[in-house]
Amino acid sequence: MLKKWWHNTIGYQIYPKSFQDTNGDGIGDLKGVTAHLDDLADLGINVIWLCPVNKSPMKDHGYDVSDYDEIDPMFGCKDDLRELIAKAEERGIKILMDLVVNHTSSEHPWFQKALEDPDGEYGKYYIIQEGKDGKEPNNWRSIFGGSAWEWIKDTNLYYLHLFTKWQPDLNWENPVVRQQIYDMVNRWLDLGIRGFRVDAISHLKKDFTYQNLPSDGADGYVNGFPYFSNVDGIGTFLSELQETTFKRYDAMTIGEVDDDLPADVLSDFIGENGYFSTIFDFCHAKFHVNSAEWKDKPVEMIDALKKRLFARQDTIKGKGILCNFLENHDLPRIVERLIPAKEIDFYSRSMVGGINFFLPGIVFLYQGQAIGMMDYPKESIEAFVDPSTFIHYDEYLQNGMTKAEALAQINLKTREHARTPMQWNDGPYAGFSSADPWFQVNPNYRQINYDAQKKDPDSLYAFYKKMISLRKSDEFQELFLYGEFTPVYESEPGVIGYERRLDDKSVLVINNAKSTETILPIPGTIKKVLLSNYENPVLQNGNIKLQRYQLLILECV
Ligand code: NOJ
Repeated sequence: MLKKWWHNTIGYQIYPKSFQDTNGDGIGDLKGVTAHLDDLADLGINVIWLCPVNKSPMKDHGYDVSDYDEIDPMFGCKDDLRELIAKAEERGIKILMDLVVNHTSSEHPWFQKALEDPDGEYGKYYIIQEGKDGKEPNNWRSIFGGSAWEWIKDTNLYYLHLFTKWQPDLNWENPVVRQQIYDMVNRWLDLGIRGFRVDAISHLKKDFTYQNLPSDGADGYVNGFPYFSNVDGIGTFLSELQETTFKRYDAMTIGEVDDDLPADVLSDFIGENGYFSTIFDFCHAKFHVNSAEWKDKPVEMIDALKKRLFARQDTIKGKGILCNFLENHDLPRIVERLIPAKEIDFYSRSMVGGINFFLPGIVFLYQGQAIGMMDYPKESIEAFVDPSTFIHYDEYLQNGMTKAEALAQINLKTREHARTPMQWNDGPYAGFSSADPWFQVNPNYRQINYDAQKKDPDSLYAFYKKMISLRKSDEFQELFLYGEFTPVYESEPGVIGYERRLDDKSVLVINNAKSTETILPIPGTIKKVLLSNYENPVLQNGNIKLQRYQLLILECV
């Protein structure tokens, strides 16, 4: 495999609004990221992905861009970004931005001009269609719920928005739009950005046959994914984007691509000459131990997860490099998703952190993950701030849930859990800001915070550091990235085990992802314990003995 600079990535995602406020307005900013570079270097990461910092009315917290060339004043200015890039480089850290080009904000001047004159030049920048019989052009449901179409006042026209109505979809069929995007991407690369996480990129191409389909919900709409996700022909746009921009700068790009991508096109996406460097592996995202499906069946859930993780490895083999992650700004915290509440402690948290950390691929952490930040359930729907939360809440009510049931469902699934301010210390507002933050701090910050864990050699943070340094070590870096992957103990319930092998080096990774101990036969000769979240002896009567939620990594011969 051709080696690339980004292959050694230990990435860290930052949600700037909630990372660190330095100017006392209760909102995180770019200077706040710069202020913590030493902390991030201490953890061992070497790539940062910044969630959107472009100018935005923030209806979707930055995923609605109203000026692609400006930084939103709430985050600072371009000089702050330049300073961040330079200081990060000094510490061997590269900065990636978020590239949101499936849609703009409805306040983007292009869209404002499109509304004024839908038949004019800017009308062609978006997807605008005639209504049918006084209704939307078709009955697609938006990804956030409700119709995917919004009526344009005083006309019989509607515009398409796969996300909120404040995020009109761009018309990628229009070459003028594409060129505008490419030029903008290159301007950021010229400024010194080393790449992008590319938002909602599966949706660029729509199937313009726009069929009305039988509804699949009480709202009368239908999930239209087959018509707007990885539709045939999307590759033409993606390859043009890559050739005209990323490739010229040797940029690192991580595509947000749903894992329903057909196996036969994977190489086109992430092969040596693929549209992107890598894509996220979302295969764990739907698992939640408190969902109706898995309640009281944690071991069965782990086994189902194992199946998916391993199947994904099979599919990806020889085709490219996956980006393994567990948390992001759209998902509840991982420990809440995979561990039953009564079992949450250092052992289960550290084991969970390792569940996909040593699989082939690169890894990305999310802010707060290494200190084990938790979900923050709310007592009333008014305490939430994200439009998608409210749309889902209304949908639940429409589908017959009571208000209490709908709130419980929101508390289980909302992406807002991941967006609470970063817990730096046990001082006011957890050290995130000197003012009342834009979003409530999780009250558990006195127990869970960075300062306390940084001082403690036995903390979760210290364990994440150990995992990172093992992955980055001269001795094993190549093995974890490029080595063969072979499942081990595959039929053992609640155990996710595999061998990683490169040439004559072999490492066995075992996650005992359950609340009871497990005795396993030794598959070879153990040379060394490379990492364990327990100190107890590993061998007992010639077998490997794993404690509840033990993560054990062994070098074997
Ligand atoms: C995916 C992003 O991760 C999410 O936060 C956003 O709301 C949608 N794309 C729309 O841009």
